[in-house]
Amino acid sequence: MLQLGAFVALLGLASASPFEKAAALSDCLSSAGVPTDATGTSDWKLDAAPYNLRLNYTPVAIAVPTTAAHVQGAIACAAKLGVKANAKCGGHSYGSFGLGGEDGHLILELDRMNNVVLDNSTGIARVEGGARLGHVASELYNQGKRGFSHGTCPGVGVGGHALHGGYGVSSHTKGLALDWMVGATVVLANSTIVNCSETEHPDLYWAVRGAGSSVGVVTEFRFKTFVVPEVLTFYVAVVRWATEDKAIEGLKAVQEFAEEMPAELNMRLFITPRFINLEGLYYGDKAGLQAAVAPLVAKTNATFQLQQEGGWLDQLKHFGGGLPLDQGHPYDFHETFYSSSLYTNALNQTQLSDFVNYWFKYAKQNKRDWYVQLDFHGGKNSAVTKPDPDSTSYAHRDYLFMYLFYDRVDKGIFPASGFGHIQNFVSNITESIPENDWGRYINYPDPNLDQNTAQTNYWGSHLDKLQAIKKAVDPTDVFHYPQGILPE
Ligand SMILES: Cc1cc2nc3c(=O)[nH]c(=O)nc-3n(C[C@H](O)[C@H](O)[C@H](O)COP(=O)(O)OP(=O)(O)OC[C@H]3O[C@@H](n4cnc5c(N)ncnc54)[C@H](O)[C@@H]3O)c2cc1C
Ligand SMILES: *[C@@H]1O[C@H](CO)[C@@H](O)[C@H](O)[C@H]1NC(C)=O
Ligand SMILES: *[C@@H]1O[C@H](CO)[C@@H](O)[C@H](O)[C@H]1NC(C)=O
Ligand SMILES: *[C@@H]1O[C@H](CO)[C@@H](O)[C@H](O)[C@H]1NC(C)=O
Ligand SMILES: *[C@@H]1O[C@H](CO)[C@@H](O)[C@H](O)[C@H]1NC(C)=O
Ligand SMILES: *[C@@H]1O[C@H](CO)[C@@H](O)[C@H](O)[C@H]1NC(C)=O
Ligand SMILES: *[C@@H]1O[C@H](CO)[C@@H](O)[C@H](O)[C@H]1NC(C)=O
Repeated sequence: MLQLGAFVALLGLASASPFEKAAALSDCLSSAGVPTDATGTSDWKLDAAPYNLRLNYTPVAIAVPTTAAHVQGAIACAAKLGVKANAKCGGHSYGSFGLGGEDGHLILELDRMNNVVLDNSTGIARVEGGARLGHVASELYNQGKRGFSHGTCPGVGVGGHALHGGYGVSSHTKGLALDWMVGATVVLANSTIVNCSETEHPDLYWAVRGAGSSVGVVTEFRFKTFVVPEVLTFYVAVVRWATEDKAIEGLKAVQEFAEEMPAELNMRLFITPRFINLEGLYYGDKAGLQAAVAPLVAKTNATFQLQQEGGWLDQLKHFGGGLPLDQGHPYDFHETFYSSSLYTNALNQTQLSDFVNYWFKYAKQNKRDWYVQLDFHGGKNSAVTKPDPDSTSYAHRDYLFMYLFYDRVDKGIFPASGFGHIQNFVSNITESIPENDWGRYINYPDPNLDQNTAQTNYWGSHLDKLQAIKKAVDPTDVFHYPQGILPE
């Protein structure tokens, strides 16, 4: 009997909920000298607040490391106690994955680790794992008039962004954020710290560039940079496609153009219930932009609303949505939304009419503030498609289009009946596309997907290798979240 009782008690301990381990975790963090947010303090509230207020999760503890040794200490405590742990950088995950994507995780709030140091002689920047993009961009500019390509929102963290892709208004010209990475310092699940690059731990380095959140915590990135151009031109052109036929005709012209457009041009089609824009950034002056887009303007009947020459900081501010560039802690900006994404090649007649039919018949009935952003991701002159598609774990280099579907409410809660809008938009488009000819982007996640579907959609043909690497570096899934890589 005694033996059975002991066995039951042991079982109880093993299956204890993370919150039952809170006191032990707190003791462990404190003896390891890891700074933490005390529950209920204003820092706790800020650090636990999701960007997407629809997905609010309660951490079991929040560590606030300021050194790599603190990160190691925190991971050692999590591993010892069997608590799941996740890094949080900018906190901008649409699925709140920086908060674990569910209750009861140890959060490593990295945003106090945001140093950026540019070596002006090599052009290589050392960027701490908790910096936000606007801060990184302003530092690189101030320290040497340099930069690299990445997304537009200054509050987005370089961590989540560059570890999973990082697409922005420079990417057709200059590639993904992860294409500028040359090395990273990573704390692994067993709390050892290693450097990875093409020559050190190359498998880990491969996984870091596309699925980094599942294999470790990056405390420092090394990025190469380029000297930023003196003159760029950002632009907005409106198209008015009043009927389904005109929209199909316009989209056909758009995709033919996207396949061939010059490397210097970056463009997206931004569809909302109120307007449709072609917009982006041209590496060159206004006359160059006009010449580059003339063929598309003629076929889509687009009319320019803005063609603005400016320097590097001007375009960053323009695309940064009015926020000051240099974002750090505290950052307190939120929305309430549901999202999903898609990658496809050019659509054939059936697929185009499925897309436009859903858009005109159903999407236009949705009175919430939704949009579809169609990035001209690939194409024959895109820097994204230049590297070998298997050279990093980012699985979808070759696709022509990257779509972000976004559906939000200004205030209040997102209705449970609201998910169908995006889900049906996506499934109407994919209905006549073969299974292996589309994918999704983990940085524009669909938080409603189950883990197996999510892994397949995000990592496609790279999933098997990623799961093998995951098994080698994190066999007990310390860095678990609901859409991460599972050990094979
Ligand atoms: C307003 C807005 C604009 C956006 N614009 C773009 C855009 O233009 N282009 C684009 O490609 N994406 C864009 N995104 C998406 C963005 O790239 C992703 O949400 C990204 O993952 C956010 O990174 P984060 O560090 O801010 O998020 P977090 O929620 O902090 O982290 C996201 C994931 O990365 C992990 N992670 C973060 N830091 C580290 C680290 N140092 N080490 C290990 N794992 C880490 C987290 O554990 C989590 O799984 C945008 C998002 C928002 C909200
Ligand atoms: C870095 O180099 C750029 C030119 O490449 C120069 O303009 C700038 O002053 C240099 N900055 C420092 C801090 O040396
Ligand atoms: C990783 O590389 C950086 C930069 O070269 C170096 O400063 C650091 O000591 C290295 N860390 C480890 C753990 O090797
Ligand atoms: C552009 O305008 C021309 C001339 O009016 C018209 O024939 C064509 O269908 C229009 N195209 C689109 C995509 O609106
Ligand atoms: C488009 O492609 C799908 C899938 O391959 C196919 O079923 C469909 O018939 C194609 N439509 C046209 C018009 O070619
Ligand atoms: C297309 O959208 C409609 C309207 O929401 C929906 O009823 C239908 O099931 C969708 N089709 C597919 C294949 O998802
Ligand atoms: C930690 O894990 C890495 C990756 O699996 C391994 O190479 C290393 O030997 C481990 N270190 C210790 C101390 O176990």
